[in-house]
Amino acid sequence: MRQALIAGNWKMNGNRQVTEQLISEIQQGLAADACEVAVIPPFTYLDQAQQLLVDSPIKLGAQNLCSEVSGTFTGEVSGNMLKDMGCHYVLVGHSERRTLYGESNEVVAEKFIRAQQQGLVPILCVGETLAQREQKQTLEVVLGQVDAVVKYNSINVLANAVIAYEPVWAIGTGLTALPEQAQQVHQALRQSIAEQHEEIAQNVRILYGGSMKPANAADLLAMKDIDGGLIGGASLKSADFLAIINEAR
Ligand code: PGA
Repeated sequence: MRQALIAGNWKMNGNRQVTEQLISEIQQGLAADACEVAVIPPFTYLDQAQQLLVDSPIKLGAQNLCSEVSGTFTGEVSGNMLKDMGCHYVLVGHSERRTLYGESNEVVAEKFIRAQQQGLVPILCVGETLAQREQKQTLEVVLGQVDAVVKYNSINVLANAVIAYEPVWAIGTGLTALPEQAQQVHQALRQSIAEQHEEIAQNVRILYGGSMKPANAADLLAMKDIDGGLIGGASLKSADFLAIINEAR
């Protein structure tokens, strides 16, 4: 049985005051029997978030990490540093990193493995662009993005990871994949993993991301292979984020 995970990716939003307010409102509103919840603030507020989350079931995550261990990499942040800040999760391969910062499948695979080596659980983001969907390349792209990580090491790396399917055309656009459209991709992902390792396929959580909000969360989360959500915009409003968490119960 896969436990649902609802993770809030704040992206480059917030400040000290917002961090304090959002986290305390989420903590106050969180039901005792809520699903697993994570918040993923910018690097600069991880320390503050970690202190606010002492004794809380809410897990902390970071949005990116460097593929190197330490040293002369000005401006980069290592997995060890994130671990030191109390992070449990780290996003790798978010589409904004892939498209705006040129992260290739190879770079994403390096980051993924480094995250695991440094004691973090990577949330591997995959997804097709609108052009790729229109050219019917969705499955090829998405399965290829997962494959790049598996090939770099082995299928076993997915035993300690989360996958997030985020169609690029649905991120921050208000457009959401229809539940059936998303389910089709989630199912294909799980199927392709099952061909390599049945148990890992049954246990790996595959989140949906892309304009998930209270109004569409229930239908998406009801799908058999959708195990939670990676929430951007709606994670910046505690009421919306809590409503989505409620739907995942
Ligand atoms: P969105 O972002 O919910 O604002 O579409 C999701 C994400 O990019 O993780």
